[in-house]
Amino acid sequence: MLPLEALLDVIATSAASALAVGGIGLAVLRLVRARPVAVQMAVVAVATVSAIVAGIVAITLRMFISSHDRDVALTVVAVAGLVGLGVAILLGRRLAHANQALVTAVRAESFTMPERVLPAELAELSRELDAAYTRLEAAHAREKALESSRRELVAWVSHDLRTPLAGLRAMAEALEDEVVVDAETVHRYHGRIRVEVDRLAEMVDDLFELSRIHSGTLRLSRQRVGLDDLVAEVVAGAEPLARAKGVRVHGEAARGLPLEVDTAELGRALRNLVTNAIRHTPSDGSIEIIGEAGDGKALVSVADGCGGIPADDLPRVFDVAFRGESARTPGAGGAGLGLAIARGIVEAHSGEIAVANTGPGCRFTIELPLGGDQPPRGSLSAR
Ligand SMILES: Nc1ncnc2c1ncn2[C@@H]1O[C@H](COP(=O)(O)OP(=O)(O)OP(=O)(O)O)[C@@H](O)[C@H]1O
Ligand SMILES: [Mg+2]
Repeated sequence: MLPLEALLDVIATSAASALAVGGIGLAVLRLVRARPVAVQMAVVAVATVSAIVAGIVAITLRMFISSHDRDVALTVVAVAGLVGLGVAILLGRRLAHANQALVTAVRAESFTMPERVLPAELAELSRELDAAYTRLEAAHAREKALESSRRELVAWVSHDLRTPLAGLRAMAEALEDEVVVDAETVHRYHGRIRVEVDRLAEMVDDLFELSRIHSGTLRLSRQRVGLDDLVAEVVAGAEPLARAKGVRVHGEAARGLPLEVDTAELGRALRNLVTNAIRHTPSDGSIEIIGEAGDGKALVSVADGCGGIPADDLPRVFDVAFRGESARTPGAGGAGLGLAIARGIVEAHSGEIAVANTGPGCRFTIELPLGGDQPPRGSLSAR
């Protein structure tokens, strides 16, 4: 056992030599900080062995151990050091390979997490990259869908505008050149011109609304309104169109459910749903508009007797310019803007809109946050 004084001397001597070597090691590490990990790990291994060797040499010089013991200790350290160096280089290479696997995965067309076992930090990086790529792919798909629907919109709108414009021009020229003179035809032409102009004005108005929604310039002027009043207004507005088609409209809403909404905009969204429902329900069919509370939200649903929307079309009906097969026949439908506008308006109100096939047709449902703290009374009032 060493006396305390000698022990302190040994500690001081070995610490001084180890610190000196450690300092040099740190300086070398700084120099090779941009080199591969294997090189840096080799420097750490060499620095460790050198610190031990320096300590042993210093202690020998202070004559705490004999030169024979020193040689034995140095041999042991040299052998252990070589093994340590080998392990460090091996670990460094493994890290380099893991890193290379990650780089290859990133460079590939689409990222798939490397199958080999990665060190924890690289595995976390790999998971984060995977999540980022998934988000990127979803954004890319959305962008592509939006771009293609925009292209379709331009094509269809220009077609939808050109066709009635050609008709209007032909009728105006016939009237101007007095090609048609009999009172009945002149009257019919005038009527036709008015209908076409109304339709074009409506389409331009829809396009303007859609551009306000997409550019984010749609400003809502919210006011408090009862869900039952909103439903009553929509039912009343739909009456003439429904009567002309021979379709019954039935409205029902829970009383006392307050909403904070832009009544003009939300009314427009609901009108679009009801107009579609009337258009797609055969005469003698019926439409049901229901307002109720559910899960702390207000729900408005419009159910019709359209015979169901094809399953392939269901996820696309809210896309800009999407029109079902029948609606693409000239004169049979609109421009495919109504539901895109409805969705834009509902989302601007922090709500959600959805569609599902039920019963004899389909049901569109709008979910909106309730705008007040009055508890719903729950009773339904028929309109
Ligand atoms: N109630 C419904 N029943 C059956 N199909 C529907 C119904 N509502 C919408 N659709 C389908 O969804 C498509 C898109 O509807 P949307 O209201 O956006 O356009 P549109 O009615 O064709 O034209 P616009 O509303 O611009 O006059 C319609 O063409 C139709 O195929
Ligand atoms: Mg429509």
